[in-house]
Amino acid sequence: MNSSNFTKTIFECMRLKSLCFWPLRKSFCSEVHRTDSWPQRVFSGIQPTGAIHLGNYFGAVARWRELQDGGANTMCCIADLHSITLPQEPLQLKKNIYQMTATLLACGIDPEKTILFQQSQVPQHAELCWVLACHSTMARLAHLPQFREKSASLKEVPVGIYVYPVLQAADILLYRSTHVPVGEDQVQHLQLAQQLVKTFNNRYGPTFPSPKAIVGDHTVSRLRSLRDPQKKMSKSDADPRSRIELMDSPADIREKCKKAVTDFTSAVTFNPVSRPGVSNLITIHSLLSGLSPEDICRDSSGLDTGRYKLVVAEVIAKNIAPIREKVIHIMSKHQYLDDVLESGAEKAVRIARETWNDVKNKVGFTYLL
Ligand code: AMP
Ligand code: TRP
Repeated sequence: MNSSNFTKTIFECMRLKSLCFWPLRKSFCSEVHRTDSWPQRVFSGIQPTGAIHLGNYFGAVARWRELQDGGANTMCCIADLHSITLPQEPLQLKKNIYQMTATLLACGIDPEKTILFQQSQVPQHAELCWVLACHSTMARLAHLPQFREKSASLKEVPVGIYVYPVLQAADILLYRSTHVPVGEDQVQHLQLAQQLVKTFNNRYGPTFPSPKAIVGDHTVSRLRSLRDPQKKMSKSDADPRSRIELMDSPADIREKCKKAVTDFTSAVTFNPVSRPGVSNLITIHSLLSGLSPEDICRDSSGLDTGRYKLVVAEVIAKNIAPIREKVIHIMSKHQYLDDVLESGAEKAVRIARETWNDVKNKVGFTYLL
């Protein structure tokens, strides 16, 4: 490792102090089972703002499934309250909530093992958000990079964008969650949640565990845009060719891979720093096939990047086809989707009520002593 990489690594460790990583499945699962005095609970959320792309899948959803299958106590929230921080067409939002539920089920989230629910069905999220907002400062929220990014492009900034991370902290704390698997873009939001836990516990006594973010290794927890490898793959990117969605057809995938921005070197080599474009494709290939980036480069030594893009397209299309078919099948079962969301909300409310009663009592809203 050269000295600048070394400095970067140290800096990364300092920045992510008190977060835990996901280097290997086994060590990760044992990390999750080792909690302090609080019972372990894994919580994560996703906004119903569009189809899941490969970044969401590998950075978040696939890991939730692994934790669930490893026996962790898992909850998965469809964050519709978060989604209206930017304008949503009501009919489209309703459809997106179903589509997200069907996609999570198709990806292997099992409602018998994971509490899968819609955030707005549990009123305590908004209530706890208010209490936590009263314990946050404007300066702290204005400092968060996602707020700065999102608000920079808007003339009028909705208050919701500002309070967004407090609502996220409320989601996590409401279930006294101990671990939160997310992509790298959410790390600062988790740090805010940890800070709110400290503030609240110091003032009112131990109420919440400090939630640990579980972030994958750097390449996985931030898959890059196919159009601009400096940016992350994102649902909100205006150019749909920047991301591969789980519902894309083989023809779409081929087209997007062919147009993926790489560089002027034609060999297939892996170096996320100096060759982010082609390395992003290799990372996706590696995640889907289980082959290491080194194996992939060796197997592709006779190919130029143009031909390699077609190979990656085929691997992606083959691997996501079964998920796409499942989503279409589940989407046709409306009653089943309603039942899943209703039963998830019932289970979530039971836990949320308990925490909220405790908070109300501690803050002074009830007569209980
Ligand atoms: P969102 O699309 O913002 O609702 O994100 C849902 C989850 O996917 C969060 O845990 C994000 O951190 C994760 N995620 C979003 N984009 C990426 C990406 N490009 N690479 C890895 N993880 C991502
Ligand atoms: N803010 C997250 C995102 O955009 C989604 C989310 C909402 C979330 N509530 C959460 C993630 C709680 C983890 C925990 O990706």
